[in-house]
Amino acid sequence: MKAMVLSANGGPEVLTLQDRPKPEIRPDQILVKVQAVALNPIDCKIRKTGAFGYGAGGILGFDVSGTVEQTGTLVTHLQPGDAVFYCPDFSGPGANAQYHAVRADLVAKKPEHLGYIEAAAVSLAGLTAWTAVLEQGHLRLGQTVLIVGAAGGVGSLAVQLAHAAGAYVFAVCSSANAGLVRSLGADRVIDRLSEDFVSVIHKEAGAVDLLFDCVGGDYVQRGMAIVKPMGRLVTIVDPKGDLSLGYRHNITLHYVSLAFDSIRRRVDGIKMLTVLLEREILKPVVSRVLPLEKLAVAHRELESGGGFGKIVLTVSH
Ligand SMILES: NC(=O)c1ccc[n+]([C@@H]2O[C@H](COP(=O)([O-])OP(=O)(O)OC[C@H]3O[C@@H](n4cnc5c(N)ncnc54)[C@H](OP(=O)(O)O)[C@@H]3O)[C@@H](O)[C@H]2O)c1
Repeated sequence: MKAMVLSANGGPEVLTLQDRPKPEIRPDQILVKVQAVALNPIDCKIRKTGAFGYGAGGILGFDVSGTVEQTGTLVTHLQPGDAVFYCPDFSGPGANAQYHAVRADLVAKKPEHLGYIEAAAVSLAGLTAWTAVLEQGHLRLGQTVLIVGAAGGVGSLAVQLAHAAGAYVFAVCSSANAGLVRSLGADRVIDRLSEDFVSVIHKEAGAVDLLFDCVGGDYVQRGMAIVKPMGRLVTIVDPKGDLSLGYRHNITLHYVSLAFDSIRRRVDGIKMLTVLLEREILKPVVSRVLPLEKLAVAHRELESGGGFGKIVLTVSH
């Protein structure tokens, strides 16, 4: 099969098209004929650093849609021919290839109204957003939330979930993405370059019940000043700086890391995501579609910033 393989760890140029053997499956796995794979920042981080053991010969790609080609003997909920979507764990080769082996309990049937491109764009970011906003963030009807990085792959889904949960949504993004973020359900978009989010929240809401940070840097540290006492702060990127204000305000800080999450929650999460997509509470946001052979171009575009939603690669057979 054709696959985009790491020749080493480094820049996007290390992603090379190679012939590789079709994967063999274990009894608890399925073999998927891959149709589309979305790019996530973690792919770029792994490509550069070799995290999770992905060095020369490794295959990335952790947001997948396709059709079931073969099922292992222990698999009961899927059959050959089913259209599926999933986010695999980071223990084996990713799906930047024509075929991919994955443990079946992480896989769900693709909602019929979604194409393969849209379905590939939603599992990793959707699981992260759901865990952060609803599971760890406990966002409730009538509460107020601030989402930082609202136009990105995770943020664009988090805004939709927060809006659907009945919260008032403040969203931080660049002015170029303000219209999109408003259309996803943000009540008030804060321009990250011309407005100070702390001042805006102080002035317009006093404080928020939940702050969800998808960017990192000092957002968590600064954001502690505008989270209500006993409120919650969830981050998916290592926060920097002095976090001691959280102690004095009784703020609960949650870290969400999908890569280290429990399989139990991942299995529940993909089921929940399927329901949200079927009911069209959640809609994938795709900014760009490229053939898999252009993976290096996609990595460069993601790393140069300024985009929104997801970049998706299509796989030809
Ligand atoms: N822990 C986990 O489980 C987990 C899971 C998924 C992702 N992540 C991490 O979370 C981060 C976001 O992921 P993603 O997929 O949403 O990334 P993404 O699609 O690249 O989006 C990032 C967004 O951040 C905004 N941004 C960039 N620089 C900013 C700045 N200085 N201040 C405020 N906003 C800025 C950009 O939008 P604007 O230009 O419009 O502001 C961009 O759309 C990445 O670091 C990723 O590795 C962690």
